[in-house]
Amino acid sequence: MAFWFCIGVALLLSLWSRAETAGIPDGVLRMECHDRYFMIAVDLSFTGDEPHFEAVDETGAYAITQQYAAQCGYSINVHPLPGHVELRASYFSCQTQNKDDEMFTFNFNLNVTQEGKEVTYPLQDKTCSPSVPWSPREVTCETNYMEVSVRSEVTCPSGTKKDDWNSLKPAHRSTTSDWQVMFQTDDEQLPPINISDARKQGYAFLLTEGRLVFRAPYGQPESFSTEVNGVPVESSTCNYILQTKLGCPHG
Ligand SMILES: *[C@@H]1O[C@H](CO)[C@@H](O)[C@H](O)[C@H]1NC(C)=O
Ligand SMILES: *[C@@H]1O[C@H](CO)[C@@H](O)[C@H](O)[C@H]1NC(C)=O
Repeated sequence: MAFWFCIGVALLLSLWSRAETAGIPDGVLRMECHDRYFMIAVDLSFTGDEPHFEAVDETGAYAITQQYAAQCGYSINVHPLPGHVELRASYFSCQTQNKDDEMFTFNFNLNVTQEGKEVTYPLQDKTCSPSVPWSPREVTCETNYMEVSVRSEVTCPSGTKKDDWNSLKPAHRSTTSDWQVMFQTDDEQLPPINISDARKQGYAFLLTEGRLVFRAPYGQPESFSTEVNGVPVESSTCNYILQTKLGCPHG
Protein backbone atom coordinates (compact mmCIF):
# COMPACT_ATOMS: atom_id res chain seq x y z
CA MET A 1 0.00 0.00 0.00
CA ALA A 2 2.65 2.49 1.11
CA PHE A 3 4.76 1.40 -1.81
CA TRP A 4 2.05 2.19 -4.37
CA PHE A 5 1.34 5.46 -2.62
CA CYS A 6 5.00 6.44 -2.99
CA ILE A 7 5.02 5.53 -6.63
CA GLY A 8 1.88 7.59 -7.10
CA VAL A 9 3.43 10.62 -5.41
CA ALA A 10 6.63 10.25 -7.42
CA LEU A 11 4.61 10.09 -10.62
CA LEU A 12 2.62 13.18 -9.68
CA LEU A 13 5.79 15.08 -8.79
CA SER A 14 7.37 14.26 -12.10
CA LEU A 15 4.24 15.46 -13.89
CA TRP A 16 4.32 18.70 -11.95
CA SER A 17 7.92 19.45 -12.71
CA ARG A 18 7.21 18.82 -16.36
CA ALA A 19 4.32 21.27 -16.22
CA GLU A 20 6.61 23.84 -14.63
CA THR A 21 9.04 23.91 -17.52
CA ALA A 22 5.89 24.50 -19.55
CA GLY A 23 6.88 22.26 -22.42
CA ILE A 24 9.56 24.48 -23.88
CA PRO A 25 12.29 22.12 -25.11
CA ASP A 26 15.83 22.56 -23.83
CA GLY A 27 18.06 24.90 -25.78
CA VAL A 28 15.23 26.70 -27.55
CA LEU A 29 14.99 29.65 -25.20
CA ARG A 30 17.67 32.05 -24.04
CA MET A 31 17.28 34.90 -21.56
CA GLU A 32 20.10 37.34 -20.95
CA CYS A 33 20.67 40.44 -18.86
CA HIS A 34 22.63 43.05 -20.76
CA ASP A 35 23.88 46.30 -19.36
CA ARG A 36 21.20 48.36 -21.02
CA TYR A 37 18.49 45.88 -21.94
CA PHE A 38 17.05 42.47 -21.21
CA MET A 39 16.92 39.95 -24.03
CA ILE A 40 14.89 36.86 -24.78
CA ALA A 41 15.69 34.79 -27.87
CA VAL A 42 13.50 31.88 -28.94
CA ASP A 43 14.09 29.55 -31.87
CA LEU A 44 11.65 30.03 -34.72
CA SER A 45 11.51 26.25 -35.09
CA PHE A 46 9.58 26.29 -31.82
CA THR A 47 7.60 29.51 -32.14
CA GLY A 48 6.61 29.38 -35.80
CA ASP A 49 6.57 32.52 -37.89
CA GLU A 50 4.30 34.59 -35.72
CA PRO A 51 5.21 34.44 -32.08
CA HIS A 52 3.44 36.82 -29.73
CA PHE A 53 4.74 38.07 -26.43
CA GLU A 54 2.92 39.44 -23.44
CA ALA A 55 4.53 41.58 -20.77
CA VAL A 56 3.33 40.64 -17.32
CA ASP A 57 3.11 42.61 -14.11
CA GLU A 58 0.90 42.37 -11.03
CA THR A 59 -1.96 44.07 -12.86
CA GLY A 60 -2.09 41.57 -15.72
CA ALA A 61 -0.64 40.49 -19.04
CA TYR A 62 -0.30 43.02 -21.84
CA ALA A 63 -0.04 41.97 -25.48
CA ILE A 64 3.06 43.50 -27.04
CA THR A 65 1.66 44.86 -30.26
CA GLN A 66 3.73 47.07 -32.53
CA GLN A 67 2.31 50.26 -31.13
CA TYR A 68 2.48 49.09 -27.54
CA ALA A 69 6.07 47.97 -27.98
CA ALA A 70 7.24 51.36 -29.20
CA GLN A 71 5.45 53.21 -26.43
CA CYS A 72 6.40 50.83 -23.67
CA GLY A 73 10.04 50.09 -24.42
CA TYR A 74 9.91 46.68 -26.09
CA SER A 75 11.37 45.67 -29.39
CA ILE A 76 10.66 42.40 -31.19
CA ASN A 77 12.73 41.38 -34.19
CA VAL A 78 12.73 38.19 -36.20
CA HIS A 79 16.15 37.05 -37.42
CA PRO A 80 15.50 34.36 -40.04
CA LEU A 81 19.13 33.50 -40.56
CA PRO A 82 20.15 32.36 -37.12
CA GLY A 83 16.49 31.38 -36.95
CA HIS A 84 15.20 33.08 -33.85
CA VAL A 85 12.93 35.81 -32.64
CA GLU A 86 14.45 38.28 -30.25
CA LEU A 87 12.64 40.38 -27.69
CA ARG A 88 14.57 43.23 -26.14
CA ALA A 89 13.14 45.10 -23.20
CA SER A 90 14.31 48.42 -21.84
CA TYR A 91 15.05 48.52 -18.14
CA PHE A 92 12.43 51.24 -18.00
CA SER A 93 9.81 49.32 -19.96
CA CYS A 94 6.24 49.54 -18.72
CA GLN A 95 5.80 46.23 -16.92
CA THR A 96 9.30 45.96 -15.53
CA GLN A 97 9.58 46.09 -11.77
CA ASN A 98 12.17 48.66 -10.85
CA LYS A 99 13.76 48.56 -7.44
CA ASP A 100 15.77 51.74 -6.77
CA ASP A 101 17.00 51.85 -10.38
CA GLU A 102 19.26 48.95 -9.47
CA MET A 103 17.25 45.75 -9.66
CA PHE A 104 14.86 45.13 -12.50
CA THR A 105 12.52 42.16 -12.77
CA PHE A 106 11.16 41.09 -16.13
CA ASN A 107 8.24 38.76 -16.70
CA PHE A 108 6.86 37.64 -20.06
CA ASN A 109 4.50 35.13 -21.62
CA LEU A 110 5.17 33.61 -24.99
CA ASN A 111 2.24 32.68 -27.22
CA VAL A 112 2.78 30.25 -30.03
CA THR A 113 0.38 28.60 -32.41
CA GLN A 114 0.63 24.84 -32.25
CA GLU A 115 -1.59 22.61 -34.36
CA GLY A 116 -3.90 25.54 -35.01
CA LYS A 117 -4.26 26.39 -31.34
CA GLU A 118 -2.73 29.30 -29.45
CA VAL A 119 -0.72 28.08 -26.49
CA THR A 120 0.59 30.38 -23.77
CA TYR A 121 3.93 29.66 -22.14
CA PRO A 122 4.67 31.72 -19.03
CA LEU A 123 8.41 32.35 -19.01
CA GLN A 124 10.18 32.34 -15.71
CA ASP A 125 10.70 35.87 -14.44
CA LYS A 126 14.22 37.18 -14.34
CA THR A 127 15.93 39.89 -12.33
CA CYS A 128 18.82 41.89 -13.74
CA SER A 129 21.18 44.43 -12.23
CA PRO A 130 23.15 46.42 -14.79
CA SER A 131 26.85 46.05 -14.04
CA VAL A 132 27.62 49.48 -15.47
CA PRO A 133 26.11 52.31 -13.42
CA TRP A 134 23.68 54.69 -15.11
CA SER A 135 25.27 57.73 -16.68
CA PRO A 136 23.77 61.16 -16.05
CA ARG A 137 22.28 60.86 -19.52
CA GLU A 138 21.52 57.68 -21.42
CA VAL A 139 20.22 57.51 -24.97
CA THR A 140 18.92 54.34 -26.58
CA CYS A 141 18.14 54.07 -30.26
CA GLU A 142 16.08 50.94 -30.68
CA THR A 143 14.65 49.63 -33.92
CA ASN A 144 11.22 51.06 -33.12
CA TYR A 145 11.68 53.82 -30.54
CA MET A 146 14.11 56.22 -28.93
CA GLU A 147 14.54 56.49 -25.23
CA VAL A 148 16.33 59.06 -23.15
CA SER A 149 16.82 58.84 -19.45
CA VAL A 150 18.49 61.46 -17.35
CA ARG A 151 19.39 61.61 -13.73
CA SER A 152 16.90 63.85 -12.06
CA GLU A 153 18.29 65.83 -9.21
CA VAL A 154 15.13 65.46 -7.27
CA THR A 155 15.66 64.63 -3.66
CA CYS A 156 12.28 65.25 -2.22
CA PRO A 157 12.25 64.95 1.56
CA SER A 158 9.45 62.45 1.98
CA GLY A 159 6.16 61.25 0.69
CA THR A 160 6.98 61.82 -2.95
CA LYS A 161 5.27 59.05 -4.78
CA LYS A 162 6.86 57.37 -7.73
CA ASP A 163 5.66 58.88 -10.98
CA ASP A 164 3.93 61.70 -9.15
CA TRP A 165 4.51 64.51 -11.60
CA ASN A 166 2.46 67.03 -9.74
CA SER A 167 4.73 67.00 -6.72
CA LEU A 168 7.67 68.01 -8.85
CA LYS A 169 8.34 71.19 -10.64
CA PRO A 170 11.25 72.80 -12.40
CA ALA A 171 13.47 74.60 -9.91
CA HIS A 172 13.20 77.89 -11.71
CA ARG A 173 9.44 78.09 -11.61
CA SER A 174 7.35 79.09 -8.68
CA THR A 175 4.06 77.48 -9.53
CA THR A 176 3.24 73.86 -9.03
CA SER A 177 1.39 73.69 -12.30
CA ASP A 178 1.10 70.47 -14.22
CA TRP A 179 4.03 69.29 -16.22
CA GLN A 180 3.93 70.52 -19.75
CA VAL A 181 5.58 69.22 -22.86
CA MET A 182 6.44 71.32 -25.84
CA PHE A 183 7.08 69.87 -29.27
CA GLN A 184 8.76 71.76 -31.98
CA THR A 185 8.66 71.10 -35.68
CA ASP A 186 11.21 72.60 -38.04
CA ASP A 187 9.55 75.96 -38.24
CA GLU A 188 6.84 75.92 -35.67
CA GLN A 189 6.60 75.63 -31.95
CA LEU A 190 3.44 73.81 -30.99
CA PRO A 191 1.51 74.93 -27.94
CA PRO A 192 2.48 73.09 -24.77
CA ILE A 193 0.40 70.10 -23.77
CA ASN A 194 0.23 68.26 -20.49
CA ILE A 195 1.83 64.90 -19.85
CA SER A 196 -1.41 62.95 -20.08
CA ASP A 197 -2.21 64.40 -23.50
CA ALA A 198 1.33 63.68 -24.70
CA ARG A 199 0.95 60.10 -23.49
CA LYS A 200 -2.24 59.80 -25.51
CA GLN A 201 -0.21 60.80 -28.56
CA GLY A 202 2.15 57.90 -28.02
CA TYR A 203 4.95 59.46 -25.99
CA ALA A 204 6.00 57.97 -22.71
CA PHE A 205 7.20 59.77 -19.61
CA LEU A 206 8.32 58.04 -16.51
CA LEU A 207 9.73 59.19 -13.25
CA THR A 208 11.73 56.53 -11.46
CA GLU A 209 13.57 56.65 -8.17
CA GLY A 210 16.29 58.86 -9.61
CA ARG A 211 15.65 59.27 -13.29
CA LEU A 212 13.41 60.98 -15.77
CA VAL A 213 12.63 58.79 -18.78
CA PHE A 214 11.26 59.99 -22.10
CA ARG A 215 10.37 57.59 -24.89
CA ALA A 216 9.17 58.33 -28.40
CA PRO A 217 8.17 55.91 -31.14
CA TYR A 218 9.68 56.63 -34.53
CA GLY A 219 7.56 58.41 -37.08
CA GLN A 220 5.67 60.68 -34.72
CA PRO A 221 4.16 63.73 -36.47
CA GLU A 222 6.09 66.13 -34.25
CA SER A 223 9.75 66.19 -35.00
CA PHE A 224 11.85 65.55 -31.99
CA SER A 225 12.64 68.86 -30.59
CA THR A 226 10.92 68.70 -27.32
CA GLU A 227 10.78 70.54 -24.08
CA VAL A 228 9.50 69.12 -20.84
CA ASN A 229 8.85 72.11 -18.58
CA GLY A 230 11.97 73.93 -19.53
CA VAL A 231 13.94 70.75 -20.13
CA PRO A 232 14.94 70.73 -23.77
CA VAL A 233 15.01 67.36 -25.49
CA GLU A 234 16.36 67.89 -28.93
CA SER A 235 17.04 65.32 -31.52
CA SER A 236 17.93 64.84 -35.08
CA THR A 237 17.94 61.22 -36.11
CA CYS A 238 18.16 60.02 -32.59
CA ASN A 239 20.63 62.46 -31.25
CA TYR A 240 19.35 64.04 -28.12
CA ILE A 241 20.46 66.87 -25.98
CA LEU A 242 18.79 66.82 -22.65
CA GLN A 243 19.29 68.99 -19.65
CA THR A 244 17.34 68.82 -16.47
CA LYS A 245 16.82 70.96 -13.51
CA LEU A 246 14.14 69.71 -11.25
CA GLY A 247 13.21 70.64 -7.76
CA CYS A 248 10.73 69.88 -5.07
CA PRO A 249 7.85 72.17 -4.25
CA HIS A 250 8.18 73.95 -0.93
CA GLY A 251 5.66 73.47 1.80
C1 LIG B 1 -2.13 34.56 -25.89
O1 LIG B 1 -3.01 33.49 -25.81
C2 LIG B 1 -4.11 33.66 -24.94
C3 LIG B 1 -4.89 32.37 -24.95
O2 LIG B 1 -4.06 31.30 -24.65
C4 LIG B 1 -4.94 34.85 -25.42
O3 LIG B 1 -5.97 35.09 -24.51
C5 LIG B 1 -4.05 36.08 -25.53
O4 LIG B 1 -4.78 37.15 -26.08
C6 LIG B 1 -2.85 35.79 -26.40
N1 LIG B 1 -1.97 36.96 -26.39
C7 LIG B 1 -1.34 37.40 -27.48
C8 LIG B 1 -0.42 38.54 -27.30
O5 LIG B 1 -1.50 36.90 -28.59
C1 LIG C 1 -4.64 68.01 -20.06
O1 LIG C 1 -5.09 68.98 -20.95
C2 LIG C 1 -6.39 68.73 -21.51
C3 LIG C 1 -6.75 69.83 -22.48
O2 LIG C 1 -5.69 70.17 -23.30
C4 LIG C 1 -7.43 68.64 -20.38
O3 LIG C 1 -8.68 68.30 -20.93
C5 LIG C 1 -7.01 67.60 -19.38
O4 LIG C 1 -7.89 67.61 -18.28
C6 LIG C 1 -5.60 67.88 -18.87
N1 LIG C 1 -5.19 66.79 -18.02
C7 LIG C 1 -4.64 66.98 -16.82
C8 LIG C 1 -4.28 65.75 -16.04
O5 LIG C 1 -4.43 68.08 -16.38
